[in-house]
Amino acid sequence: MRHFLSLKDFTKKELLEMITLAQKIKAQTKNKKFVPYMEHQTLGMIFEKSSTRTRVSFETGIYQLGGVGLFLSSNDIQLGRGEPMKDTARVISRMVDMVMIRTFEHSKLEEFAAHSIVPVINGLTDSYHPVQLITDYMTIIECGIIEPIVAFVGDGNNNMTHSWLMLAAKLGFELRVATPKGYEPDPIIVQEALEIAKESGATITFGSDPKVAVENANVVTTDTWVSMGQENEKEIRIKAFNGYMVDASLMSLAQENAIFLHCLPAYRDYEVSEAIFEKHADEIFLEAENRLHAQKGIMVWLDQHRDNVNEKGTMNNE
Ligand code: CP
Ligand code: NVA
Repeated sequence: MRHFLSLKDFTKKELLEMITLAQKIKAQTKNKKFVPYMEHQTLGMIFEKSSTRTRVSFETGIYQLGGVGLFLSSNDIQLGRGEPMKDTARVISRMVDMVMIRTFEHSKLEEFAAHSIVPVINGLTDSYHPVQLITDYMTIIECGIIEPIVAFVGDGNNNMTHSWLMLAAKLGFELRVATPKGYEPDPIIVQEALEIAKESGATITFGSDPKVAVENANVVTTDTWVSMGQENEKEIRIKAFNGYMVDASLMSLAQENAIFLHCLPAYRDYEVSEAIFEKHADEIFLEAENRLHAQKGIMVWLDQHRDNVNEKGTMNNE
């Protein structure tokens, strides 16, 4: 049985298999062919943070695969009143077939997974957002970009940048990260990514000048300057990120047909100008839609790799 907690736990071949599955299921869905890959299965969806895309895409996705999604907000379940994560995992994983969690510390997700008897999917932690990055790579392919040169501009020490680092390292493409001083990616994650990059041949560079990062890139991306849980740092962050907005003058340095991606929600005229957001709306909302398809690929892949679990979802050796 495999969990989907971080991209670093998968080989390049496995990550590409998930994307291929997602593309196949997307094509089937577009032809109104709903193949019940996960018939009668239940996906538990635990949310300790807000969500629009993750909730709607997972719930719709499992339904289209023939199963059902259970939305479990920590405001409503006993987890929010202090029931331990490990007890929550041991209960819920005996009743459902797969679990997706959105939480704060990555260690909480790992604790849940360690006590779960069904596959667990990371729906975003403070450290990583891997389902978004599978989606983003699927979108890059769909936009016809064969050799991505990705520029990430903005907050380096967040879940999106860390997952971009892992994706580039695993798949072997070029990633340039431009962040203000003091907002660089976590040095431990950088070290891990650079080690993996040695094997894949990825080129990963860091700096503080957005222009250097964007020059000749074919994918430009950013993320909010104030992630969930950082609301009380808003004022200080907005000052620190002054000069890091992706606007027309910055985008003009990228390749002529460069795409702009944003995981959303976007804060106009902070990390991205209104004009650039609207100019690239087709790509951004294709990316948003692809959450639905990419996650179906991930769920079906995990379902196909649970050979140690019997039909009821309990471990064969129990
Ligand atoms: N991109 C993303 O994960 O969006 P939500 O926070 O709306 O789920
Ligand atoms: N970095 C953002 C991503 C939102 C999808 C956050 O954690 O709030």
